Amino acid sequence: MAEKRWQALIELSALEPDDATPVEFNGRLFGVYDTIDGYFVSDARCTHAGANLCDGYFDGKHIECPLHQGLFDARTGTAIAAPVTRNLRMIECRVNGDVLEIYL
Ligand code: FES
Repeated sequence: MAEKRWQALIELSALEPDDATPVEFNGRLFGVYDTIDGYFVSDARCTHAGANLCDGYFDGKHIECPLHQGLFDARTGTAIAAPVTRNLRMIECRVNGDVLEIYL
């Protein structure tokens, strides 16, 4: 397995402001959340049955799954409301100039 390193994910200007943006990267789908506390990145697939969370409702803190309305904190990945019970896998990210990078 390759060693982790900072990699450019997407330009900030390509993100949906104050919303969730799906980004495909190396065959994986990530969700990028422009939250009230800054940017956060997770696997975009719901841990319940795999729906794309970026199609769900986002309020700046929480992302609601579009399929069965499970709820996660987009800043920590914590599963908050049924039927989700497993937390989201979060990906470390940082802003570098006008690019969002992930540590992967
Ligand atoms: S797939 Fe997300 S709550 Fe069921």
